[in-house]
Amino acid sequence: MSDWSQGYPTDSAYIDAIQVEINPWRWQQSMLFSGRACPSPRAPFRFLELGCGSAMTLIALACSYPQAKFTGYDFMPEHIVTANRLIREIGLTNIEVREGAFAEMIAEGPGEKYDFAAAHGVWSWVPPEVRSDIVTVLNGWLGTGAVTYFGYNAAAGWAAAGPIRQIFRRVPRGRGERPFAAARAAVDLWLEQMGDMAPQAAVLWQKLKDAPDHFLAHEIGSEFGTGIWMEDLAEPLGEAKMTYAGPAVLAEHMDALFLEDEGVEMLRRAVDEGWGETARDLLHRRTFRNDLYHRGAPTVSGTTMLEKMRALRLIAWDEALNIGTHPSVFDQLKRGVDERVLLGFQELCAGDGAPFGACMEAVDAPPMAAFQAVMTALVSGGLMDLRPKADVEAAQETCDRFNAAMMARLRRGGHVPGFAAPGYGGCVQFSRPEQRAVLLGETEDEIFHARLEKLGVRVR
Ligand SMILES: C[S@@+](CC[C@H](N)C(=O)[O-])C[C@H]1O[C@@H](n2cnc3c(N)ncnc32)[C@H](O)[C@@H]1O
Repeated sequence: MSDWSQGYPTDSAYIDAIQVEINPWRWQQSMLFSGRACPSPRAPFRFLELGCGSAMTLIALACSYPQAKFTGYDFMPEHIVTANRLIREIGLTNIEVREGAFAEMIAEGPGEKYDFAAAHGVWSWVPPEVRSDIVTVLNGWLGTGAVTYFGYNAAAGWAAAGPIRQIFRRVPRGRGERPFAAARAAVDLWLEQMGDMAPQAAVLWQKLKDAPDHFLAHEIGSEFGTGIWMEDLAEPLGEAKMTYAGPAVLAEHMDALFLEDEGVEMLRRAVDEGWGETARDLLHRRTFRNDLYHRGAPTVSGTTMLEKMRALRLIAWDEALNIGTHPSVFDQLKRGVDERVLLGFQELCAGDGAPFGACMEAVDAPPMAAFQAVMTALVSGGLMDLRPKADVEAAQETCDRFNAAMMARLRRGGHVPGFAAPGYGGCVQFSRPEQRAVLLGETEDEIFHARLEKLGVRVR
């Protein structure tokens, strides 16, 4: 390990990853639910990413918001080379990806201040002095009212990974492609011996075991790759005048959809007693948090929130397609909308879609109940909101170029983490091999393609 790494595993490059939760269009709605205004994703905003890796997410965002300016920093030169190769291939001019450690950013200064910032997979992977550098950078580089996103391993669910992390740290590494082969075998053996005594570790390992070694090196081989409690992040961010706003993903604002009645009651009590976020993580068994912080964003009233939500353009959607548009929902929902009510919404929103407000009016219920019904259908995947048509059209050409580059990779058998979806306002992912087969034209799926076209992902 070299000196400049400051404890971060720099022996191998991180995977080319895409993070669907990084999406200014969607953050605007989440901020509204937290009672705060967000810098407008329709304006020419400035967006900063700290520890951007090979910047796949940032590049897709630069394609999706051609009116905005994007800057990414990462201290691993391999990541910067990969990012700049793709930027050149697409021919983008509204993004810059630079090599630099956070400590170097402090000395450099921002030029102009930023409206948005994001740090995904960084805070819970770096030592305390680097965390302190991040706070100093944000303090100097963010403008008034800016919104910052943090994606990080959550202690509540991640604590169970402790023994796996210890095995990865202690079992000697081999050479070549699979340096963790012996550590992997040791984890398998340990879990076999545990039977059903380490259920959460078994679930985590099930999710991680097929990932390549160079991903695991960062995810669990990293010395500082621990889970974090929300309060332990909120406190230092307070030093940079940043206050917790709420979850970045709209669905996560609706706890009652995911918890049994007793869980909702326990959470309510914990919120009253002042330990709501800890209880929330424990009850949801969270292994990861995607949170938004703001630097003095103005408050918005319930009436303004309702007005803005009513204006959203909704289309019929189907979560079962698994296009990565409804992160953190999947099979965890405990409640949903009545089937007939949902079908009514989907009929109304067929084709080009209909406003959220029109769906509310179609429900035979008082306004609050109607609002909740449409919200539930929206966050659970039965409906989807699209950006305004003018914004989609403005982003279409650059997103087409990004997606053409991804399709070329796919045809060469390369790794494609996701696509740029101008209608969605960011990235979407395809996790299933059969979706790749459809994209490559090896199998037919007209419904899948029709849905992609609705998002503005034009790949045939
Ligand atoms: C787990 S990766 C996440 C990459 C990317 N944000 C993503 O989610 O795909 C963490 C990134 O932070 C970068 N990093 C770690 N310490 C850093 C530092 N002190 N200064 C700048 N970048 C750093 C690493 O090089 C790596 O690319």
